Amino acid sequence: MRGIARLVVTRFIVTVHGWPVHDTSPLDEPPFPRYNTSSIQDDAEQALSGHAGGALEDKMSITPIGRRLPDDSRQKITTASLQERKLRHEPITCLTAYDYATARLVDESAIDMVLVGDSLAQTMLGYDNTLSVTMDEMLHHAKAVRRGVKNALLLADMPYGSYQADPTEAIRNATRFVKEGGAEVVKIEGGEKRTDLIRRIIDAEIPLAGHIGLTPQSVNVMGGYKVQGKDLGAIEQLMRDAVALDRAGVACLFLEGIPREVAAMSTAEVGTPTIGIGAGPECDGQVLVFHDIVNLTFGPPAKFVRRYGDAAALITHAVQAFRADVKSHQYPSDEESYHLPRETRAALETVLERKRAMRR
Ligand code: KIV
Repeated sequence: MRGIARLVVTRFIVTVHGWPVHDTSPLDEPPFPRYNTSSIQDDAEQALSGHAGGALEDKMSITPIGRRLPDDSRQKITTASLQERKLRHEPITCLTAYDYATARLVDESAIDMVLVGDSLAQTMLGYDNTLSVTMDEMLHHAKAVRRGVKNALLLADMPYGSYQADPTEAIRNATRFVKEGGAEVVKIEGGEKRTDLIRRIIDAEIPLAGHIGLTPQSVNVMGGYKVQGKDLGAIEQLMRDAVALDRAGVACLFLEGIPREVAAMSTAEVGTPTIGIGAGPECDGQVLVFHDIVNLTFGPPAKFVRRYGDAAALITHAVQAFRADVKSHQYPSDEESYHLPRETRAALETVLERKRAMRR
């Protein structure tokens, strides 16, 4: 049966979109007498005429892309909703996501904000830090996340180099995140020195998130990833930064890697919602990197990371089980294989028998 199928089935490969594409590569060496494949196919087609049309199981796809169930019970989160949450002292939740599948899972878990963070430089692309990730790389991921997010507020990080040099270029790049990436808010790093730029971006009708404290794009200036705001001078600067960004009109303010006390003071001082990461529990909301909470980061976690699952263990187990099944001929089973319809198989046997008789 394996041999028959190899001979008569026009070979197809399946692209990632699930569309069959004719494979022009030569057939593998058949394990039995050589036939003229094209005439066999002609004969088979004749023998099968009247039996055209594939069974349902012929429909192939890599995996079904599920349709979302209509769910009107959840409200779309907007920048106004964040503000309301702050006033009501209702904690705001935010996670990073960098691809369609994760974005869907995060969104469907009712997380308020999804951030396409430039941390994707490390988590998705394997860079050492966030400095080398480009606009095009960020946009590529933002678009995928956009397709997976329905209710959450979608934010995207402007990468290093896309907003520091020239305000006009910064607005152009911010606009690309909205137009091409579908982001509802863009985020830039830096304190009071960014206020003019922030006003200009908001003037271009683009809501903006600030990010102060440990700002990873300044890793070389900071001399490493260090907790910021630890002495009185640094605390004063952080407070000035928070207030300046608030006055400039940021939609929310990310506080990263600062002492709990300083984050609490900033949160009380500003009207905009603060979203903390390594900044203690008094912030209006909390953000973590998705890969951190599911153990996909290949290293010891930072102090503030709480692991909620072990995707590394789960994936490794699944991959090793697949490998073992293939190696031991346990996969695929007959139930996991496609079959010819009974009449087709009978017709095919007739053709092959005729061929064998002619050769005798
Ligand atoms: O890039 C990122 O993931 C971030 C957050 C963690 C705040 O900026």
